[in-house]
Amino acid sequence: MNRTTFLSAIAHTVAAVLRSPVLKAYIRARPMYRGTSFRAFREGTLMETMDRYSVPDTKGRIIHWAARYDVLAWLLLLGRERAFRERLVHLACLESGQSVLDIGCGTGSLAIAAKKQVGPSGMVQGIDASPEMIARARKKATRASVDVAFTHGVVEALPFPDGQFDAVLSTLMLHHLPGETRQQCAREMHRVLKPGGRVLAVDFGGSAGRRRGLIAHFHRHGRVDVHDIVRLLSEAGFEIVESGPLGLRDMNYVLGTAR
Ligand SMILES: C[S@@+](CC[C@H](N)C(=O)[O-])C[C@H]1O[C@@H](n2cnc3c(N)ncnc32)[C@H](O)[C@@H]1O
Repeated sequence: MNRTTFLSAIAHTVAAVLRSPVLKAYIRARPMYRGTSFRAFREGTLMETMDRYSVPDTKGRIIHWAARYDVLAWLLLLGRERAFRERLVHLACLESGQSVLDIGCGTGSLAIAAKKQVGPSGMVQGIDASPEMIARARKKATRASVDVAFTHGVVEALPFPDGQFDAVLSTLMLHHLPGETRQQCAREMHRVLKPGGRVLAVDFGGSAGRRRGLIAHFHRHGRVDVHDIVRLLSEAGFEIVESGPLGLRDMNYVLGTAR
């Protein structure tokens, strides 16, 4: 190989490396992945891609705009999100050492609050069909220095064994599922709970037509009547302990135990 051919081969290799989509993505995402080597980033990207294709399809409405979702939650909860999440944790009667699953966990705020309640001897998992939500939830848990396992998956086919959890939480998620998927989800919640385990379901209940403003704009599709949640959970094998308005916006809650 003469000198010209050799230099031209090197130039081609460098150009090919610079054109690599993974390298371009790494350069773009560098501020977010500060301290991560290119190799770790590339492996993480491949893992995320594999993860994306291994999750079953869903008819649920997935939210991909994770950062904007947190802004919306802040507006919806008038800047008092932490107090709201802590209230739900107490409503679900979570205790130290318990194992908890948050389904349709979004950006992980409730799962993080749950982990603070169950402590180091407890275990909290969150699951969501949106890879963007899961990525943001993981980042928030790391920032809060709490150990919560976030899984990319669907609530109608939970990737957990029977009878694993003491409590399952579902907030503002059921209205994202069409009827049959919602029933599958309720059966799955029951399956993964220990006998006597608790379910807490919270959702918007008021008439969508009556809502106004920004929140109404984002949630014009979303409501589940509290009686429908009671029926859904009863049919899936839960005994209803209490239900009613949460006293915030038009949210209702239903608390049940697995028979
Ligand atoms: C309105 S958000 C609620 C998030 C969170 N629970 C909260 O209280 O902020 C509904 C979430 O359900 C997720 N979702 C919709 N369908 C789903 C499914 N079939 N399986 C898992 N997650 C689903 C969406 O991606 C979204 O993150």
